[in-house]
Amino acid sequence: MSSTLKKVAAGFATAALLVGGVAACSSERGGTTDPTTSAPEETTSAPDETEEPATGADITSVGIAMPTKELERWNRDGAHLESLLKDAGLETSLQYAENKVDMQITQLQNMINDGVDVLVVASIDGTALGPVLQTAADNDVIVIAYDRLINGTENVDYYATFDNYRVGTFQGEYIVEQLDLDNAEGPFNLEPFAGSPDDNNAKFFFAGAWDVLKPYIDEGKLVTPSGKAPASNDDWASIGIQGWKSETAQSEMQNRLNSFYAGGEKVDVVLSPNDSLALGIAQALDAAGYTPGEDWPILTGQDADQANVLNILAGKQSMSVWKDTRQLGDRVATMISQLAAGEEVEVNDTETYDNGVKVVPSYLLDPTVVVADTVEEILVGSEFYSAEDLGL
Ligand code: GAL
Repeated sequence: MSSTLKKVAAGFATAALLVGGVAACSSERGGTTDPTTSAPEETTSAPDETEEPATGADITSVGIAMPTKELERWNRDGAHLESLLKDAGLETSLQYAENKVDMQITQLQNMINDGVDVLVVASIDGTALGPVLQTAADNDVIVIAYDRLINGTENVDYYATFDNYRVGTFQGEYIVEQLDLDNAEGPFNLEPFAGSPDDNNAKFFFAGAWDVLKPYIDEGKLVTPSGKAPASNDDWASIGIQGWKSETAQSEMQNRLNSFYAGGEKVDVVLSPNDSLALGIAQALDAAGYTPGEDWPILTGQDADQANVLNILAGKQSMSVWKDTRQLGDRVATMISQLAAGEEVEVNDTETYDNGVKVVPSYLLDPTVVVADTVEEILVGSEFYSAEDLGL
């Protein structure tokens, strides 16, 4: 428990006892090892009875720090969470940092100076916030890591995210199924990509997919003509795309096509960890003359961004792993209300997310695979998009 919660909990320990604060931590899904280095074993473990209930002081003001407006999903995240907290009568400060780490640190410092009680942080670089979060702790500010784990500091109290490893396994499983790798001869040409090296999520996305695909690579059913197939999960950053930039992914894909596919060889499948990269990769495939429905490769993604869903409907992307960001905002708002009420904050994973200093109590939500046939049912049916948004 961070020093902030210790101070606050001490102040509310009596209250917590009065409300019978009982550790409500449940770790139904806690993996016993870091899944980025090996597939997690299924275990359950009794909640740590020694953990004092985490309680909050009088919470009236929340700072929300989002990485950038450039990528569609973060705009949704920020707007939804802000509206939830405002509806709950809280003051909010929603800031976007243009994917600039120093800007985000300054924004966090300003929020602390302005007296926020809670910081909700979707970090740009999860390793860069130690000093400013020490200032947060010194000012009794409770810190919730949003979507991306913050590393290297004890001053992160909770983490709310989707199951990042599952995102990757969905992508890997989709490829195995579509290529029928258990029965087909192969070999199939695979070009893998990974996310931004400063984003803690990226290693989980990659590990989830690579744990599924590696056996087929080892038996030669999947080959990588560019040679850019990491030897292990630990080497994922070697194919990372800084800042998740579409244009960087596009030029990387163009380079691979020009250098390794000029002799008529075709790409059969591209592992893209998210939609912003998939968008750039699709543009490179377009430019190289690939045709949807003919020789367009399997192309994975994540986030169900609008442009990518339109590409899925047009046959230029095969799938996206959808994370209903409304649920993530709802979960964080619930955490804040539980803190404000002096209740135990509900989590469902107390083992996976070790940030190098502590295992951060986490709540993992379930992602969902979306393909062309299920876009309407899942994305329009849930009102994430309107039919008009998608030309349906
Ligand atoms: C990740 C996030 C993904 C992905 C990427 C780019 O941390 O979990 O949804 O889109 O950032 O924003």
